[in-house]
Amino acid sequence: MANIVLVGAQWGDEGKGKIIDILTEKADFVVRFQGGSNAGHTVRVGDREFVLHLIPSGILHSKKTCIIGNGVVIDPESLLKEVDTLTSRGIQIDGNLFVSEAANIVLVYHRLLDTLREQFKGEGKIGTTGRGISPTYMDKVGYMGIRAVDLLSEDVLRTKLEINLREKNAYFTKIYNQPPLDLEELLEQYLDYGRRLKKFIANTELIINRAIKEGKRILFEGAQGTLLDVNFGSYPYVTASSTTAGGACIGSGIGPTKIDKVMGVVKAYSTRVGSGPFPTEFAPEDDFVDRKKDREYGATTGRPRRCGWFDAVIVRHAVRVNGLDKIALTKLDILDTAPKIKICTAYKYNNTIIEDFPNDSKLFDNCEPVYEEMDGWLQHIRKTKRFEDLPAATKAYVKRLEELIETPVSIISVGSRRSQTIFLEDLD
Ligand code: GDP
Ligand code: IMO
Ligand code: MG
Repeated sequence: MANIVLVGAQWGDEGKGKIIDILTEKADFVVRFQGGSNAGHTVRVGDREFVLHLIPSGILHSKKTCIIGNGVVIDPESLLKEVDTLTSRGIQIDGNLFVSEAANIVLVYHRLLDTLREQFKGEGKIGTTGRGISPTYMDKVGYMGIRAVDLLSEDVLRTKLEINLREKNAYFTKIYNQPPLDLEELLEQYLDYGRRLKKFIANTELIINRAIKEGKRILFEGAQGTLLDVNFGSYPYVTASSTTAGGACIGSGIGPTKIDKVMGVVKAYSTRVGSGPFPTEFAPEDDFVDRKKDREYGATTGRPRRCGWFDAVIVRHAVRVNGLDKIALTKLDILDTAPKIKICTAYKYNNTIIEDFPNDSKLFDNCEPVYEEMDGWLQHIRKTKRFEDLPAATKAYVKRLEELIETPVSIISVGSRRSQTIFLEDLD
Protein backbone atom coordinates (compact mmCIF):
# COMPACT_ATOMS: atom_id res chain seq x y z
CA MET A 1 0.00 0.00 0.00
CA ALA A 2 1.31 3.44 -0.93
CA ASN A 3 0.21 6.77 0.56
CA ILE A 4 -3.54 6.67 0.71
CA VAL A 5 -6.16 9.21 1.67
CA LEU A 6 -9.37 7.82 3.10
CA VAL A 7 -12.45 10.05 3.18
CA GLY A 8 -16.14 9.76 3.94
CA ALA A 9 -18.24 10.03 0.78
CA GLN A 10 -21.61 10.91 2.36
CA TRP A 11 -22.58 12.83 5.53
CA GLY A 12 -20.07 11.21 7.89
CA ASP A 13 -20.34 8.06 10.00
CA GLU A 14 -19.82 5.86 6.98
CA GLY A 15 -17.72 3.44 9.05
CA LYS A 16 -14.36 5.11 8.41
CA GLY A 17 -13.01 3.95 11.79
CA LYS A 18 -13.40 0.28 10.89
CA ILE A 19 -11.81 0.68 7.44
CA ILE A 20 -8.94 2.80 8.79
CA ASP A 21 -8.29 0.12 11.38
CA ILE A 22 -8.02 -2.50 8.63
CA LEU A 23 -5.82 -0.39 6.36
CA THR A 24 -3.54 0.55 9.26
CA GLU A 25 -2.04 -2.94 9.17
CA LYS A 26 -0.34 -1.99 5.91
CA ALA A 27 0.63 1.56 6.94
CA ASP A 28 3.44 3.01 9.04
CA PHE A 29 1.84 6.37 9.87
CA VAL A 30 -1.80 7.37 10.34
CA VAL A 31 -2.53 11.09 10.02
CA ARG A 32 -5.68 13.04 10.90
CA PHE A 33 -5.78 16.22 8.81
CA GLN A 34 -9.02 18.10 9.58
CA GLY A 35 -12.00 18.38 11.89
CA GLY A 36 -11.79 18.02 15.64
CA SER A 37 -13.56 16.19 18.41
CA ASN A 38 -16.79 16.46 16.44
CA ALA A 39 -15.62 13.19 14.87
CA GLY A 40 -16.48 9.85 16.43
CA HIS A 41 -14.75 6.87 14.80
CA THR A 42 -15.71 3.48 16.16
CA VAL A 43 -13.31 0.57 16.01
CA ARG A 44 -14.14 -2.89 17.26
CA VAL A 45 -11.23 -5.03 18.37
CA GLY A 46 -12.45 -8.46 19.43
CA ASP A 47 -15.20 -7.78 21.95
CA ARG A 48 -13.85 -4.37 22.86
CA GLU A 49 -15.08 -1.17 21.25
CA PHE A 50 -13.15 2.09 21.02
CA VAL A 51 -14.54 5.44 19.92
CA LEU A 52 -11.86 7.86 18.76
CA HIS A 53 -12.50 11.57 18.42
CA LEU A 54 -9.13 13.26 17.85
CA ILE A 55 -6.51 10.55 17.98
CA PRO A 56 -6.12 8.64 14.70
CA SER A 57 -7.76 5.22 14.80
CA GLY A 58 -4.32 3.72 14.03
CA ILE A 59 -3.39 4.14 17.70
CA LEU A 60 -4.97 0.75 18.39
CA HIS A 61 -2.12 -0.91 16.48
CA SER A 62 1.21 -0.95 18.25
CA LYS A 63 4.29 0.15 16.30
CA LYS A 64 2.38 2.68 14.18
CA THR A 65 2.97 6.40 14.44
CA CYS A 66 -0.11 8.59 14.77
CA ILE A 67 -0.22 12.25 13.90
CA ILE A 68 -2.76 14.96 14.54
CA GLY A 69 -1.98 17.37 11.73
CA ASN A 70 -2.05 21.16 11.49
CA GLY A 71 -5.50 21.13 9.85
CA VAL A 72 -7.17 19.63 12.93
CA VAL A 73 -8.64 21.85 15.64
CA ILE A 74 -7.68 20.48 19.02
CA ASP A 75 -9.61 20.75 22.23
CA PRO A 76 -6.90 19.96 24.80
CA GLU A 77 -9.43 18.82 27.38
CA SER A 78 -10.88 16.34 24.92
CA LEU A 79 -7.45 15.16 23.73
CA LEU A 80 -6.11 14.61 27.25
CA LYS A 81 -9.25 12.73 28.20
CA GLU A 82 -8.84 10.52 25.16
CA VAL A 83 -5.19 9.83 26.00
CA ASP A 84 -6.16 8.92 29.59
CA THR A 85 -9.03 6.69 28.52
CA LEU A 86 -6.94 4.82 25.97
CA THR A 87 -4.05 4.43 28.41
CA SER A 88 -6.36 3.09 31.11
CA ARG A 89 -7.61 0.51 28.59
CA GLY A 90 -4.09 -0.72 27.95
CA ILE A 91 -3.30 1.18 24.73
CA GLN A 92 0.26 2.40 24.79
CA ILE A 93 0.71 6.10 24.00
CA ASP A 94 4.39 6.78 24.33
CA GLY A 95 6.42 8.18 21.47
CA ASN A 96 3.79 7.07 18.95
CA LEU A 97 1.60 10.20 18.96
CA PHE A 98 2.54 13.64 17.66
CA VAL A 99 0.42 16.79 17.58
CA SER A 100 1.14 19.57 15.12
CA GLU A 101 2.49 22.70 16.78
CA ALA A 102 0.53 24.68 14.15
CA ALA A 103 -2.83 23.07 14.91
CA ASN A 104 -5.38 25.57 16.20
CA ILE A 105 -6.73 25.13 19.72
CA VAL A 106 -10.39 24.98 20.69
CA LEU A 107 -10.90 27.15 23.77
CA VAL A 108 -13.75 27.36 26.25
CA TYR A 109 -15.10 30.43 24.45
CA HIS A 110 -15.34 28.56 21.14
CA ARG A 111 -17.54 25.88 22.68
CA LEU A 112 -19.71 28.57 24.30
CA LEU A 113 -20.01 30.52 21.05
CA ASP A 114 -20.95 27.35 19.17
CA THR A 115 -23.88 26.74 21.52
CA LEU A 116 -24.97 30.39 21.67
CA ARG A 117 -24.87 30.86 17.89
CA GLU A 118 -26.95 27.76 17.40
CA GLN A 119 -29.51 29.15 19.87
CA PHE A 120 -29.60 32.45 17.99
CA LYS A 121 -30.16 30.71 14.68
CA GLY A 122 -33.37 29.19 16.03
CA GLU A 123 -35.06 27.19 13.28
CA GLY A 124 -32.06 27.74 11.01
CA LYS A 125 -29.72 25.95 13.36
CA ILE A 126 -27.19 23.56 11.87
CA GLY A 127 -27.39 20.96 14.62
CA THR A 128 -23.67 21.13 15.36
CA THR A 129 -21.98 18.78 17.78
CA GLY A 130 -21.36 21.73 20.13
CA ARG A 131 -17.63 21.06 20.15
CA GLY A 132 -16.64 24.62 19.15
CA ILE A 133 -15.53 23.60 15.67
CA SER A 134 -16.84 26.45 13.53
CA PRO A 135 -15.85 29.28 15.95
CA THR A 136 -12.32 27.84 16.15
CA TYR A 137 -11.89 27.69 12.35
CA MET A 138 -13.39 31.21 12.17
CA ASP A 139 -10.65 32.48 14.46
CA LYS A 140 -8.04 30.59 12.45
CA VAL A 141 -8.96 32.30 9.18
CA GLY A 142 -9.66 35.54 11.07
CA TYR A 143 -5.98 35.63 12.15
CA MET A 144 -6.93 35.26 15.83
CA GLY A 145 -6.29 31.58 16.39
CA ILE A 146 -4.22 30.16 19.21
CA ARG A 147 -1.98 27.34 18.05
CA ALA A 148 -0.71 24.33 19.99
CA VAL A 149 2.78 25.81 20.20
CA ASP A 150 1.38 28.96 21.83
CA LEU A 151 0.32 26.89 24.85
CA LEU A 152 4.01 26.44 25.63
CA SER A 153 4.79 30.14 26.03
CA GLU A 154 3.17 32.21 28.79
CA ASP A 155 3.83 35.62 27.25
CA VAL A 156 2.59 34.64 23.77
CA LEU A 157 -0.51 32.99 25.18
CA ARG A 158 -1.26 35.97 27.45
CA THR A 159 -1.03 38.46 24.58
CA LYS A 160 -3.18 36.35 22.27
CA LEU A 161 -5.78 35.66 24.95
CA GLU A 162 -5.97 39.37 25.83
CA ILE A 163 -6.75 40.26 22.22
CA ASN A 164 -9.23 37.43 21.89
CA LEU A 165 -11.05 38.17 25.14
CA ARG A 166 -11.44 41.83 24.24
CA GLU A 167 -13.62 40.73 21.34
CA LYS A 168 -15.16 37.58 22.80
CA ASN A 169 -16.20 39.22 26.06
CA ALA A 170 -17.89 41.99 24.07
CA TYR A 171 -19.88 39.30 22.25
CA PHE A 172 -20.73 37.51 25.47
CA THR A 173 -21.84 40.57 27.43
CA LYS A 174 -23.32 42.80 24.70
CA ILE A 175 -24.92 40.30 22.33
CA TYR A 176 -25.44 37.06 24.16
CA ASN A 177 -26.17 38.43 27.62
CA GLN A 178 -23.58 36.17 29.27
CA PRO A 179 -20.90 36.87 31.90
CA PRO A 180 -17.39 37.70 30.60
CA LEU A 181 -14.51 35.21 30.85
CA ASP A 182 -11.57 35.85 33.15
CA LEU A 183 -8.16 36.19 31.49
CA GLU A 184 -6.04 34.86 34.38
CA GLU A 185 -8.25 31.84 34.87
CA LEU A 186 -8.18 30.97 31.17
CA LEU A 187 -4.44 31.57 30.95
CA GLU A 188 -3.71 29.20 33.85
CA GLN A 189 -6.07 26.55 32.47
CA TYR A 190 -4.49 26.52 29.01
CA LEU A 191 -0.89 26.78 30.27
CA ASP A 192 -1.62 23.69 32.30
CA TYR A 193 -2.89 21.91 29.17
CA GLY A 194 0.29 23.05 27.44
CA ARG A 195 2.46 21.47 30.16
CA ARG A 196 0.59 18.19 29.78
CA LEU A 197 0.63 18.19 25.97
CA LYS A 198 4.25 19.36 25.57
CA LYS A 199 5.62 15.87 24.94
CA PHE A 200 3.29 15.42 21.94
CA ILE A 201 3.73 18.82 20.27
CA ALA A 202 6.06 18.77 17.27
CA ASN A 203 6.66 19.99 13.73
CA THR A 204 4.55 17.29 12.14
CA GLU A 205 4.91 18.38 8.50
CA LEU A 206 8.62 17.73 8.96
CA ILE A 207 7.99 14.29 10.48
CA ILE A 208 5.55 13.28 7.73
CA ASN A 209 7.72 14.48 4.86
CA ARG A 210 10.81 12.77 6.31
CA ALA A 211 8.83 9.56 6.64
CA ILE A 212 7.68 9.78 3.02
CA LYS A 213 11.28 10.28 1.94
CA GLU A 214 12.25 7.13 3.83
CA GLY A 215 9.59 5.18 1.94
CA LYS A 216 7.20 4.83 4.85
CA ARG A 217 3.54 4.36 4.02
CA ILE A 218 1.13 7.03 5.18
CA LEU A 219 -2.57 6.64 5.69
CA PHE A 220 -4.53 9.90 5.89
CA GLU A 221 -7.66 9.51 8.01
CA GLY A 222 -10.47 11.79 6.95
CA ALA A 223 -13.20 12.77 9.38
CA GLN A 224 -16.82 13.72 8.64
CA GLY A 225 -17.83 13.28 4.99
CA THR A 226 -17.86 14.97 1.60
CA LEU A 227 -21.37 16.38 2.00
CA LEU A 228 -20.18 18.12 5.16
CA ASP A 229 -17.21 19.74 3.39
CA VAL A 230 -17.20 23.53 3.77
CA ASN A 231 -16.74 23.99 0.00
CA PHE A 232 -18.43 20.99 -1.57
CA GLY A 233 -21.00 19.95 1.01
CA SER A 234 -24.69 20.74 1.42
CA TYR A 235 -23.83 24.30 2.49
CA PRO A 236 -24.68 25.82 4.96
CA TYR A 237 -25.43 22.47 6.65
CA VAL A 238 -21.78 21.47 6.73
CA THR A 239 -18.81 21.48 9.06
CA ALA A 240 -16.06 24.10 8.97
CA SER A 241 -13.20 22.07 7.48
CA SER A 242 -12.13 20.61 4.14
CA THR A 243 -13.26 17.04 4.59
CA THR A 244 -12.41 16.13 0.99
CA ALA A 245 -9.14 14.61 -0.21
CA GLY A 246 -7.53 17.99 -0.93
CA GLY A 247 -7.75 18.67 2.81
CA ALA A 248 -5.11 15.99 3.37
CA CYS A 249 -2.49 18.25 1.78
CA ILE A 250 -3.29 21.50 3.54
CA GLY A 251 -4.03 19.75 6.81
CA SER A 252 -0.81 17.79 7.02
CA GLY A 253 1.77 19.72 5.00
CA ILE A 254 2.39 17.35 2.11
CA GLY A 255 2.14 18.10 -1.58
CA PRO A 256 -0.48 16.45 -3.85
CA THR A 257 2.35 14.61 -5.65
CA LYS A 258 2.79 12.46 -2.53
CA ILE A 259 -0.71 10.98 -2.64
CA ASP A 260 -1.00 7.68 -4.49
CA LYS A 261 -4.60 6.70 -3.93
CA VAL A 262 -7.86 8.07 -2.62
CA MET A 263 -10.41 5.72 -1.14
CA GLY A 264 -13.98 6.72 -0.31
CA VAL A 265 -15.95 5.05 2.45
CA VAL A 266 -19.55 4.66 1.35
CA LYS A 267 -22.38 3.30 3.46
CA ALA A 268 -24.75 0.98 1.61
CA TYR A 269 -27.58 3.40 2.47
CA SER A 270 -27.51 7.00 3.71
CA THR A 271 -27.44 8.64 7.12
CA ARG A 272 -27.06 12.16 8.45
CA VAL A 273 -26.98 13.73 11.93
CA GLY A 274 -28.01 17.32 12.47
CA SER A 275 -30.21 19.51 10.30
CA GLY A 276 -30.23 20.05 6.56
CA PRO A 277 -31.76 18.62 3.40
CA PHE A 278 -31.71 14.86 2.95
CA PRO A 279 -33.59 13.94 -0.26
CA THR A 280 -33.61 10.16 0.29
CA GLU A 281 -34.58 10.22 3.98
CA PHE A 282 -36.87 7.28 4.76
CA ALA A 283 -40.57 7.77 4.96
CA PRO A 284 -41.55 6.27 8.36
CA GLU A 285 -43.10 3.18 6.68
CA ASP A 286 -39.83 2.42 4.83
CA ASP A 287 -37.52 2.87 7.80
CA PHE A 288 -36.17 -0.58 8.68
CA VAL A 289 -33.03 0.59 10.50
CA ASP A 290 -32.91 -0.34 14.18
CA ARG A 291 -30.95 2.67 15.48
CA LYS A 292 -29.65 0.80 18.52
CA LYS A 293 -28.80 -2.61 17.08
CA ASP A 294 -27.56 -1.20 13.78
CA ARG A 295 -25.43 1.40 15.55
CA GLU A 296 -27.04 4.47 14.08
CA TYR A 297 -26.65 6.69 17.13
CA GLY A 298 -24.09 9.50 16.87
CA ALA A 299 -20.76 8.25 18.29
CA THR A 300 -20.01 11.76 19.61
CA THR A 301 -23.34 13.25 20.67
CA GLY A 302 -25.53 10.15 21.05
CA ARG A 303 -28.19 11.62 18.75
CA PRO A 304 -30.19 9.13 16.66
CA ARG A 305 -29.08 9.36 13.02
CA ARG A 306 -31.53 10.19 10.26
CA CYS A 307 -31.53 7.29 7.77
CA GLY A 308 -32.46 6.95 4.10
CA TRP A 309 -31.88 5.13 0.81
CA PHE A 310 -28.61 5.16 -1.09
CA ASP A 311 -28.18 8.39 -3.03
CA ALA A 312 -26.03 7.93 -6.14
CA VAL A 313 -26.15 11.66 -6.94
CA ILE A 314 -24.21 12.66 -3.83
CA VAL A 315 -21.77 9.75 -4.09
CA ARG A 316 -21.03 10.59 -7.75
CA HIS A 317 -20.29 14.12 -6.54
CA ALA A 318 -17.96 12.66 -3.89
CA VAL A 319 -16.22 10.56 -6.54
CA ARG A 320 -15.55 13.73 -8.53
CA VAL A 321 -14.48 16.19 -5.87
CA ASN A 322 -12.23 13.69 -4.11
CA GLY A 323 -10.97 11.91 -7.21
CA LEU A 324 -11.93 8.58 -5.63
CA ASP A 325 -10.11 5.55 -7.06
CA LYS A 326 -11.74 2.92 -4.86
CA ILE A 327 -14.72 2.42 -2.64
CA ALA A 328 -15.04 0.68 0.70
CA LEU A 329 -18.74 -0.21 0.91
CA THR A 330 -19.86 -0.54 4.52
CA LYS A 331 -22.83 -1.77 6.50
CA LEU A 332 -24.16 -3.84 3.62
CA ASP A 333 -25.49 -6.31 6.22
CA ILE A 334 -27.94 -3.70 7.52
CA LEU A 335 -29.95 -4.22 4.32
CA ASP A 336 -30.35 -7.96 5.13
CA THR A 337 -33.92 -7.46 6.35
CA ALA A 338 -35.18 -5.12 3.60
CA PRO A 339 -37.52 -6.90 1.13
CA LYS A 340 -37.10 -4.14 -1.49
CA ILE A 341 -34.21 -1.72 -1.76
CA LYS A 342 -34.42 1.68 -3.41
CA ILE A 343 -31.55 3.55 -5.03
CA CYS A 344 -31.78 7.22 -5.88
CA THR A 345 -30.30 7.71 -9.34
CA ALA A 346 -31.22 11.36 -9.95
CA TYR A 347 -33.35 14.20 -8.58
CA LYS A 348 -36.41 15.83 -10.06
CA TYR A 349 -37.03 19.56 -9.66
CA ASN A 350 -39.64 21.61 -11.56
CA ASN A 351 -40.09 18.67 -13.95
CA THR A 352 -36.39 18.63 -14.77
CA ILE A 353 -34.16 15.64 -14.09
CA ILE A 354 -30.95 16.53 -12.29
CA GLU A 355 -28.12 14.01 -12.31
CA ASP A 356 -25.37 16.09 -10.73
CA PHE A 357 -25.24 17.44 -7.20
CA PRO A 358 -26.66 21.00 -7.18
CA ASN A 359 -24.93 23.84 -5.34
CA ASP A 360 -28.25 25.70 -5.25
CA SER A 361 -29.54 25.02 -1.74
CA LYS A 362 -33.12 25.88 -2.74
CA LEU A 363 -33.02 23.18 -5.36
CA PHE A 364 -31.39 20.60 -3.11
CA ASP A 365 -33.89 21.39 -0.38
CA ASN A 366 -36.89 20.90 -2.63
CA CYS A 367 -35.90 18.20 -5.10
CA GLU A 368 -37.59 14.80 -5.26
CA PRO A 369 -35.47 11.67 -5.50
CA VAL A 370 -35.90 9.50 -8.60
CA TYR A 371 -35.71 5.89 -7.48
CA GLU A 372 -35.13 2.54 -9.01
CA GLU A 373 -35.96 -0.52 -6.97
CA MET A 374 -34.12 -3.80 -6.51
CA ASP A 375 -34.99 -7.01 -4.72
CA GLY A 376 -33.59 -7.48 -1.24
CA TRP A 377 -31.81 -10.73 -0.30
CA LEU A 378 -33.54 -11.40 3.00
CA GLN A 379 -30.75 -13.48 4.51
CA HIS A 380 -27.78 -12.81 6.75
CA ILE A 381 -24.51 -11.99 5.04
CA ARG A 382 -22.43 -11.24 8.15
CA LYS A 383 -20.42 -14.44 7.91
CA THR A 384 -19.69 -14.27 4.18
CA LYS A 385 -15.98 -14.09 3.43
CA ARG A 386 -15.90 -13.98 -0.38
CA PHE A 387 -17.78 -11.85 -2.90
CA GLU A 388 -18.72 -14.97 -4.94
CA ASP A 389 -20.51 -16.40 -1.90
CA LEU A 390 -22.85 -13.44 -1.42
CA PRO A 391 -26.49 -13.96 -2.46
CA ALA A 392 -27.17 -13.08 -6.12
CA ALA A 393 -29.36 -10.11 -5.13
CA THR A 394 -26.55 -8.70 -2.94
CA LYS A 395 -24.03 -9.00 -5.74
CA ALA A 396 -26.48 -7.34 -8.13
CA TYR A 397 -26.94 -4.43 -5.69
CA VAL A 398 -23.17 -3.90 -5.35
CA LYS A 399 -22.68 -4.10 -9.14
CA ARG A 400 -25.48 -1.58 -9.71
CA LEU A 401 -23.92 0.86 -7.23
CA GLU A 402 -20.56 0.50 -8.96
CA GLU A 403 -22.19 1.30 -12.29
CA LEU A 404 -24.02 4.33 -10.94
CA ILE A 405 -20.99 5.82 -9.23
CA GLU A 406 -18.54 4.70 -11.90
CA THR A 407 -15.99 3.53 -9.35
CA PRO A 408 -14.96 0.02 -8.31
CA VAL A 409 -15.70 -1.35 -4.86
CA SER A 410 -12.58 -2.93 -3.37
CA ILE A 411 -13.71 -3.63 0.20
CA ILE A 412 -17.14 -4.69 1.46
CA SER A 413 -17.90 -4.55 5.15
CA VAL A 414 -20.61 -6.85 6.48
CA GLY A 415 -20.25 -6.23 10.21
CA SER A 416 -18.29 -4.14 12.69
CA ARG A 417 -15.60 -6.76 13.35
CA ARG A 418 -12.28 -6.89 11.52
CA SER A 419 -13.12 -10.40 10.32
CA GLN A 420 -16.41 -9.26 8.78
CA THR A 421 -14.72 -7.82 5.72
CA ILE A 422 -14.69 -9.00 2.11
CA PHE A 423 -11.69 -7.96 0.00
CA LEU A 424 -12.29 -7.74 -3.73
CA GLU A 425 -8.66 -7.10 -4.50
CA ASP A 426 -5.29 -7.26 -2.87
CA LEU A 427 -4.60 -4.01 -1.04
CA ASP A 428 -0.82 -4.07 -1.40
P1 GDP B 1 -17.21 6.74 11.31
O1 GDP B 1 -17.44 8.02 12.00
O2 GDP B 1 -17.24 6.88 9.82
O3 GDP B 1 -15.96 6.04 11.77
O4 GDP B 1 -18.44 5.79 11.69
P2 GDP B 1 -19.08 5.60 13.15
O5 GDP B 1 -18.11 4.86 14.00
O6 GDP B 1 -19.56 6.90 13.68
O7 GDP B 1 -20.37 4.75 12.83
C1 GDP B 1 -20.32 3.50 12.22
C2 GDP B 1 -20.95 2.45 13.16
O8 GDP B 1 -21.24 1.28 12.41
C3 GDP B 1 -20.01 2.00 14.26
O9 GDP B 1 -20.78 1.63 15.39
C4 GDP B 1 -19.31 0.78 13.65
O10 GDP B 1 -18.85 -0.16 14.63
C5 GDP B 1 -20.43 0.19 12.86
N1 GDP B 1 -20.00 -0.52 11.62
C6 GDP B 1 -18.96 -0.22 10.78
N2 GDP B 1 -18.98 -1.04 9.71
C7 GDP B 1 -20.05 -1.86 9.85
C8 GDP B 1 -20.62 -2.89 9.05
O11 GDP B 1 -20.16 -3.21 7.96
N3 GDP B 1 -21.74 -3.49 9.54
C9 GDP B 1 -22.31 -3.16 10.73
N4 GDP B 1 -23.41 -3.80 11.12
N5 GDP B 1 -21.79 -2.18 11.52
C10 GDP B 1 -20.69 -1.53 11.08
P1 IMO C 1 -17.40 11.48 11.79
O1 IMO C 1 -15.94 11.78 11.59
C1 IMO C 1 -21.50 12.91 11.23
C2 IMO C 1 -22.17 17.22 11.57
C3 IMO C 1 -23.01 17.73 12.73
C4 IMO C 1 -23.67 18.93 12.07
C5 IMO C 1 -22.56 19.49 11.19
C6 IMO C 1 -21.77 20.65 11.80
O2 IMO C 1 -17.71 10.64 12.96
O3 IMO C 1 -18.00 11.00 10.50
P2 IMO C 1 -19.94 20.72 13.72
O4 IMO C 1 -20.01 20.32 15.17
O5 IMO C 1 -18.90 20.00 12.94
O6 IMO C 1 -19.86 22.22 13.54
O7 IMO C 1 -21.38 20.30 13.11
O8 IMO C 1 -21.66 18.40 10.94
N1 IMO C 1 -21.01 16.38 11.94
C7 IMO C 1 -20.96 15.05 11.75
N2 IMO C 1 -21.89 14.19 11.31
N3 IMO C 1 -20.26 12.45 11.54
C8 IMO C 1 -19.30 13.31 11.96
O9 IMO C 1 -18.02 12.93 12.14
C9 IMO C 1 -19.65 14.67 12.13
N4 IMO C 1 -18.97 15.77 12.54
C10 IMO C 1 -19.80 16.80 12.40
O10 IMO C 1 -23.94 16.75 13.15
O11 IMO C 1 -24.71 18.50 11.23
MG1 MG D 1 -18.71 8.89 13.38
